[in-house]
Amino acid sequence: MELKQKIEELKKAQGAVILAHNYQLDEVQEVADYVGDSFYLSKIAASIANEVIVFCGVRFMAETAKILSPHKTVLLPESDAGCPLADTITAEDVRSLKKQHPNAPVVCYINSSAEVKAESDICCTSSNAVKLVAALPDQTVIFIPDENLGDYVAKQVPDKELILWKGCCVTHAKVQPDNIKAVRKKYPEAKILIHPECAPRVVAAADFAGSTAEIIRYAENSKEKTFVIGTELGVLHSLAKSCPDKKFFLLHPGLVCPNMKKTRLHSIYNALQQRQAEITVTEELAIKARLALTRMLG
Ligand code: 13P
Repeated sequence: MELKQKIEELKKAQGAVILAHNYQLDEVQEVADYVGDSFYLSKIAASIANEVIVFCGVRFMAETAKILSPHKTVLLPESDAGCPLADTITAEDVRSLKKQHPNAPVVCYINSSAEVKAESDICCTSSNAVKLVAALPDQTVIFIPDENLGDYVAKQVPDKELILWKGCCVTHAKVQPDNIKAVRKKYPEAKILIHPECAPRVVAAADFAGSTAEIIRYAENSKEKTFVIGTELGVLHSLAKSCPDKKFFLLHPGLVCPNMKKTRLHSIYNALQQRQAEITVTEELAIKARLALTRMLG
């Protein structure tokens, strides 16, 4: 029997749902029930009725699903699919930042561990960071751990002072302003769509910055026909499906996240068959982290 069919049968038998981030391999996106950005997948994880969630993404995403749905079984098919950006900051680092800026709330990008979320006041994703920071009554805000996203938010909310942590996504950090110059020359008609995890000078030189879902929506709704995409390769799959009449090029050949690409069809099959890599978060930690996450979900 084909692997896809076996996954379908196991999924049905176990009442499982498969969530996949936009950066997952095409074959994984194809078997998923829901594909989207971090914010969308968090909302789905919080509201879905299924008892088992197979989270095809990286650890912080599966952890977030477990925190939001503590009574469900959350499986991460490849247990070592991590996020180097999330690993740049520890709970102790956050406590130390809070000591230095005792009156500033901590806004924590969802790309962070459960321990870091538990020390934070509110979580955000790249699709709602500006809105959430702007809505805070405080003038000074600690924003962790992505410095580039923090810089992007600070520019949109110029009346606030953002204390930034020097974390970054190693994949998005590969893109340089020269890459933008080169594609403007090669594809002068193209719109350049960028993830705000890219460096500030790259974001400034692009035509649009947004989360993976916002990038996809922008291209879908645009009258333009050619786009250069400044985020991970995986988004090209949804774009090719929803915009068959448009052309998409990747801004930089290095925009491939090795952790997101670890999950394959056989990983999902093994996860379902052997209940492999079940995510656990202690209730003490989950209570605090959940508060920061539910404030984000509203
Ligand atoms: P999105 O929130 O845009 O899906 O991005 C998640 C991420 O990890 C970007 O690198």
